[in-house]
Amino acid sequence: MGVVKKICCIGAGYVGGPTCAVIAHQCPDIKVTIVDLSQARINAWNSNNLPIYEPGLDEIVFGARGKNLFFSTDVEGAILEADLIFVSVNTPTKKSGMGAGMAADLAYVESATRKIAEVAKSSKIVVEKSTVPCRTAESMRTILDANSHDHIRFDLLSNPEFLAEGTAISDLLNPDRVLIGALQTPEGLKAQQALAEVYSHWVPRDRVITTNLWSSELSKLAANALLAQRISSINALSAICEATGADVDEVAYAVGKDTRIGPKFLKASVGFGGSCFQKDILNLTYLAESLNLPEVAAYWHQVVIMNEYQKKRFVKRIITKLFNTITNKKIAVFGFAFKKDTGDTRESAAITLIKDFIDEHAHVRLYDPKVEESQIWIDLSDVSGADAAKKHVTLFPDPYSAAEDADAVVIVTEWDEFRDTKLDYQRIYDSMKKPACIFDGRLILDANKLRKIGFKVDVIGKNE
Ligand code: NAD
Ligand code: UGA
Repeated sequence: MGVVKKICCIGAGYVGGPTCAVIAHQCPDIKVTIVDLSQARINAWNSNNLPIYEPGLDEIVFGARGKNLFFSTDVEGAILEADLIFVSVNTPTKKSGMGAGMAADLAYVESATRKIAEVAKSSKIVVEKSTVPCRTAESMRTILDANSHDHIRFDLLSNPEFLAEGTAISDLLNPDRVLIGALQTPEGLKAQQALAEVYSHWVPRDRVITTNLWSSELSKLAANALLAQRISSINALSAICEATGADVDEVAYAVGKDTRIGPKFLKASVGFGGSCFQKDILNLTYLAESLNLPEVAAYWHQVVIMNEYQKKRFVKRIITKLFNTITNKKIAVFGFAFKKDTGDTRESAAITLIKDFIDEHAHVRLYDPKVEESQIWIDLSDVSGADAAKKHVTLFPDPYSAAEDADAVVIVTEWDEFRDTKLDYQRIYDSMKKPACIFDGRLILDANKLRKIGFKVDVIGKNE
């Protein structure tokens, strides 16, 4: 395989969409077609209202769409003409069967791979973009090899994605590294070079790391596990801070000044969310279990257990501070997305928190600047049932109306607009029941400033 001229991406989601839109934007000489089974998703990609919110994404898509970037449901057509195919489909945690609740569901990866094998009439480089358990490429290769012959060969690469939502476009334009794993055969290395060539349009060569297939697959799980582990570590310390009078922000700052530790990913919080941290750690745990490494499995599993504990601990603290009952109390929840600058709610801590508030028969008054209303009802109905969700939760168009007559405000997502430099907390205080309590699950507020207004303030990892 020589120079890549046509790329197909199977899966127009949070990864496939932005990643391949950036490739099209940076490589005007390459035709990029992003395909999906979901007509609704493709229609949205072809509209002025893209299916995902990501700063900078509109400019990238609108700049290349219709020139060298196309969105389509014609999966077969795109496979047929492509030299290189990204498989960027979802790999959720299995809901039933063997490994339920732990292992990754590889059904979508397998079905995309089988589709490539069935449809292709010329040689292809097939790139595993989805996050998968180590050695998944082996199964993909077996399926593809069984369908290759004299005139068609398939070369398989692993090219995991490290973008974070909310910063996807800058992460893609300026990645810390691009990782490409290949079989260490002459053909594998040639395919690796062909993909490296695509990235070389904008990524400096020394940031393109080439490894064998299995290192590449495992590095992705390892990166997410280590990142999530840092959050669970600081969250575990936040519990000690609350019990001792230490301040978790001060501890994180002091610890992070050590260049061996570094300052990033040490922000205590109500717990990490997002589609991948929990899923990938459970996946790693399951992998370790299946490799008969129970101590290794237990070690990584603890990161998820600590995250669940952090969410429960926060709810308990809220109930305790609200005089041990929140029944019939009005709780204004600020934020539903799993982090700021995204409309994504997958595994958001807000879902768990609100479920607990509903279980306690509180009235939740919710505001989020970006999440679609329909998504909020889907998520809450999933955990609490539609009737209870509708009965106990009301959505508001802005934080001021959400906080009116509330007993407490709970900051769940760290949207900039919730900061005390942006919101008029005096106005919020004046409209609330007294005592007016505020619980900062993201450490974004100046507690002293709010106390001067009259609020009772509680911050994760602080006990002032
Ligand atoms: P997603 O659910 O947003 O998108 C996946 C898309 O694939 C869906 O639109 C689905 O309809 C489509 N699809 C599934 N099977 C298909 C098939 N056979 N043919 C055509 N389309 C098909 O998922 P995502 O968030 O983009 O994640 C994709 C992968 O990337 C996952 O493995 C995930 O772990 C990994 N990842 C995600 C992120 C992130 O920030 N979301 C970051 C890095 C890696
Ligand atoms: C994460 C990784 O950062 C990406 O590198 C990876 O590609 C991606 O997962 C993936 O594989 O899906 P993402 O989940 O989009 O990206 O967002 P993060 O910025 O990592 O935040 C994850 C969660 O951790 C959020 O709920 C965030 O609020 C929380 N967090 C993050 C903290 O609580 N404290 C921190 O210091 C950092």
